[in-house]
Amino acid sequence: MREGQTAVTRRLDYAPPAFWIDTVDLSIDLDPAKTRVLSKLTVRRNPDVPAQPLKLDGDELNLARVLLDGAGCSFRMEGEQLVLENLPEGDAPFALEIFTTCSPEKNSKLMGLFMSGGDFFTQCESEGFRRITYFLDRPDVMATYTVTLRADKQRWPVLLSNGNLVDAGELEGGRHYATWHDPHKKPCYLFAVVAGKLVAREQRITTRSGNNHLLQVWVRPGDLDQTEHAMNSLVHAILWDEWRFGLKLDLERFMVVATSDFNFGAMENKGLNIFNSKYVLAKPATATDADFEAIEGVIGHEYFHNWTGDRVTCRDWFQLSLKEGLTVFRDQSFSMDMAGTASARAVKRIGDVITLRTVQFAEDAGPMAHPVRPDEYLEITNFYTTTIYEKGAEVVRMVETLLGREGFRRGLDLYFQRHDGHAVTCDDFIQTMADATPGSALAERLPQFKLWYSQAGTPVVRAQGHYDAAAQTYTLQLSQSCPPTAGQPAKQPMLIPLRLGLVGLDGRDLPLTLQGGALLHGDVVVLHEPAATLVFSGVTQEPVPSLLRGFSAPVKLQMEATPEQLMHRLAHDSDPFNRWEAGQQLALRVALAQLAAGGEVAPAPLSDAHLAALRAVLRDAALDAAFKALALGLPGESYIADQLPGNVDPQRIHAVREAMRRQLAHALRADWQWAWEHNHDTGAYTPDPVSSGRRALAGLALAMLCLAADGDAVWPGKAYQRVKDAGNMTDRENALQALLGCGHPLAARALEGFYARFSHEALVVDKWFALQARAPDVAGSALPAVLALMQHPDFTLKNPNRARSLLFGFCSGNPAGFHRLDGAGYTFWAGQVLALDAINPQVAARLARTMDAWARLAEPWRGAAREAIARVAAQPKLSNDVREVVTRALA
Ligand code: PHE
Ligand code: ZN
Repeated sequence: MREGQTAVTRRLDYAPPAFWIDTVDLSIDLDPAKTRVLSKLTVRRNPDVPAQPLKLDGDELNLARVLLDGAGCSFRMEGEQLVLENLPEGDAPFALEIFTTCSPEKNSKLMGLFMSGGDFFTQCESEGFRRITYFLDRPDVMATYTVTLRADKQRWPVLLSNGNLVDAGELEGGRHYATWHDPHKKPCYLFAVVAGKLVAREQRITTRSGNNHLLQVWVRPGDLDQTEHAMNSLVHAILWDEWRFGLKLDLERFMVVATSDFNFGAMENKGLNIFNSKYVLAKPATATDADFEAIEGVIGHEYFHNWTGDRVTCRDWFQLSLKEGLTVFRDQSFSMDMAGTASARAVKRIGDVITLRTVQFAEDAGPMAHPVRPDEYLEITNFYTTTIYEKGAEVVRMVETLLGREGFRRGLDLYFQRHDGHAVTCDDFIQTMADATPGSALAERLPQFKLWYSQAGTPVVRAQGHYDAAAQTYTLQLSQSCPPTAGQPAKQPMLIPLRLGLVGLDGRDLPLTLQGGALLHGDVVVLHEPAATLVFSGVTQEPVPSLLRGFSAPVKLQMEATPEQLMHRLAHDSDPFNRWEAGQQLALRVALAQLAAGGEVAPAPLSDAHLAALRAVLRDAALDAAFKALALGLPGESYIADQLPGNVDPQRIHAVREAMRRQLAHALRADWQWAWEHNHDTGAYTPDPVSSGRRALAGLALAMLCLAADGDAVWPGKAYQRVKDAGNMTDRENALQALLGCGHPLAARALEGFYARFSHEALVVDKWFALQARAPDVAGSALPAVLALMQHPDFTLKNPNRARSLLFGFCSGNPAGFHRLDGAGYTFWAGQVLALDAINPQVAARLARTMDAWARLAEPWRGAAREAIARVAAQPKLSNDVREVVTRALA
């Protein structure tokens, strides 16, 4: 699609391709300025479709020649498409040869063939292959690929593509070549090439089924010491998928490659996964616990795509969640199993739910709201969203809840039996899961469950309880609704699995006996009506209800609860997720009351009982440190904003949350000190859940102690010292953040020292920018600080990680600094969106989305935000990516 053109693609317009491409033979002569691509295709008509011309997609290509069965042929251009009309009739295959060139060094969009650090990489999902050669660039066209790469041997000694290396050798003029053959048919979005000065960590493994594989993690020569964790994660992922789902690695060789210029996290190209270096490289000195955890998750995610994505792929891009939702569910399950203990599993689940509720719920309530299976798009790249990924994973999780672990496994087995090697739809997936489990709660109400794929918006479940002491019954009245979203004014009731318990006086669960019905798995209610009344009998004492345990459905639960009930659950709930959630609800209620009150923000809004409850959690010897760190954390500002009906005053939200944080710091000072003393020394670094949890709690304690220092230099001094001599990046970054967070003058020196020490570690320099972008806005200092950082020699908009660290850090990670009364934050945003759009529209569109919630802001922010968005929308040369985001925002 050319700039200025706009065409919406609709799901219901799907038509099968008029031609199939069976084999692709690519010869690629790599050259930064002008790469030559010769593509030999075997093409045949699709007999099921009326005869029509062959229209091949292209984007920024130079076409040199087209041959049909070895001879010249007529063709024409239709926009960027190459159209061939006079093709042989009948079903017999014919040969097409297309010779094109492209310029990787000019490719700043990082889609197609691009350069990073002097090396060549490709990115083809979703529609990047058309930037390499003319093709039917759609996921339902699957072909067998043979690829020959040629390049200067000294500059690009390593030549990689999908599948197996079948030939390699020398050429004249200092060049060399390598030929790769991929035995598996694949859509072109899974094609990949890498050429560069790279080295590999290698490992051979024998799986439980006795197969041997060569695993490689390719990085730049200096980075080999940072590949151990990625390799271990890959080995674990391979073993886990075979153990949990019986899914085996189907290639002799499996490669992972890191690049420092990448729009997303990583890409599941068949047998040749390409990663943002952020999700491969780790050593204790430069990577935090969160980085180690993310690497395990992303390595797992891309590996799991080999089955859920590559072997079974999407028919069209509206089905994106078919692979992404399922694969996120799989990587979340993997990380949970790797975490081990019940407590560590719950910590992982809480983290996932925090992401879902802060990012996806906001998306579902904003201008970009869309169903898990969208109906239309202008630019598909804008739909790689938390709705497709994280909400999609919750939908799969609900399927597992409805079917049970065994039933789910049976369903997946049938899914691969039926659909292996095919490009299918979300409907195919869910139908298979139901077919494999006749009589299941899913099979019984399949059409209703499918609403999770078609209806946007976050459903709200309202619950009301009533205890009848005389009858010894507890009655629960449930009702559900779903707010209107763009194009969907009225919603139908959904199928909602609610896991629940009734907590007794002693903190233990009371037995559950449901009158006139049974609970799924003993503790799950399947709500399918708009409203339902449940009566539990034999309830011998007034219980405290604990609903939506484990966050069993992606909904907003509204239920009245007294502070005493919430504290009871914070102290006792047998479901660790809901135990944490009770604490969040407590804090949220305080924040909302303060926001509703108006007038001065109360300096100490938390009650003594509330503080005592938090202290008890902090001091509880039976709880893991990781859980404590989460339970003592306050809900984020954007989550609080989400709970308000509108008229969001971001400065007041910030002030209220800060007041709570300060009070928590002061009131629990002795407890924080105790927590620090017991957790700050974790010995030799390992990224396991227990020691990372202790580091998290120590980090929180240190931040609190610095915040409560009140002019006393002891704790800021300790933090400063720790920035200097910490044994790992987690402790060092936490200490730096603690110093920055309390606005202590030592922070500036600590930042300087930090930079001096790590200026050659790109991923750490990203952290250095991000930490400053998020630093407290003391007297309006945040924006000027960001502007100054943009002049730093290490800053560039061209590198997505760097641009994200500073711009996203500020625009979404620093609400108080960004939402300035004078609107200067928004003006800055508009300028950066436009500057980025000229370089990399995908990254620009992501930045554009940081203003999604503008319409809910109070004045004067709302007016200023609208003006800034309108300024971007008025630009004539906007990419489709950014245009779609800003037009929806203003609609
Ligand atoms: N498919 C990738 C993943 O989720 C994400 C991605 C999309 C990467 C588009 C690059 C481009 O694993
Ligand atoms: Zn994915």
